[in-house]
Amino acid sequence: MSIYEKAYAKINLLLAVTGKRDDGYHQLETVYQSLALHDTLTFTKIKENNIILSCDHSGLPAAQDNLVWRAAERLKLLYEVKQGVHIRLEKRIPLAAGLAGGSSDAAATLRGLVRLWQLPWEEDVIFELAARLGSDVPFCLRGGTALGTGRGEIITELPNCPPFYVVLANPGFYVSTASVYAALQPDDFSGAYDLPGMLSALKAKNHRQIISHLTNMLEPAVFRIHPAVKTLKAKMNASGSALLCGSGPTVFALFNSRAEAEKLAQLLLHERYKVWLTDTCQPHTGGGLPHD
Ligand code: C5P
Repeated sequence: MSIYEKAYAKINLLLAVTGKRDDGYHQLETVYQSLALHDTLTFTKIKENNIILSCDHSGLPAAQDNLVWRAAERLKLLYEVKQGVHIRLEKRIPLAAGLAGGSSDAAATLRGLVRLWQLPWEEDVIFELAARLGSDVPFCLRGGTALGTGRGEIITELPNCPPFYVVLANPGFYVSTASVYAALQPDDFSGAYDLPGMLSALKAKNHRQIISHLTNMLEPAVFRIHPAVKTLKAKMNASGSALLCGSGPTVFALFNSRAEAEKLAQLLLHERYKVWLTDTCQPHTGGGLPHD
């Protein structure tokens, strides 16, 4: 018997850095939003008492360095599971792109293995384990629309974002999150941002207001290190409202109209960017735009 889980990508509609902490992390206020773009994981019990990971993408780090493998191992140790598993990962979310692909795969692994091994869903224990795997992993356990505070790992549910078509474009190189935070200067995050405004825009399901509150304070640092990302955002801003995804280098733009989203996607494809056309999604309620 096999179990399947989808691991959804995410964007941050708002990412404000409010300070640097003693533990080296940065204090955040962020509004996470899941996207329909996803990886798929298949979990199958095996006779041997170990964890085997296979993937259709050659660029993924090997076993012990992979967040999926680490999530499985830590869960197995915690609950003293004596059963092995083969995890097959079908990768569709680009790697190191600011879309939380690895974090979402790790969260899907925790969900999938709790089901496969018939473990209790102890919310506090699972969320703590998720937070130790990475700051974005707790959000990815449930997905949807949520506020992240602390280093991003303290999650409060928010009203569902109204559906948007989302164009993602990527300049084709990887960016490490740690390198972006290391390059942050205090001036980069001294500016104003309007979290209450974003929260009321979400509550009112007002597309225009959501777009006017889009914020990402990691942009100045990423643009300094990779000017090509600044150029990409400017191109996308010409026909929509663009913002850097997390720590980049992917940039997203939000649309009400599929035709407009397709137009921008075509334009960027012609310029040889890697491009995806997806939409916002609410994994737990099934909300979102109809799919073909
Ligand atoms: O939590 P995660 O492992 O995803 O973070 C990767 C790196 O990004 C951390 O090691 C840290 O350097 C940086 N980071 C940060 N502040 C955050 C989240 C991440 O400085 N809130």
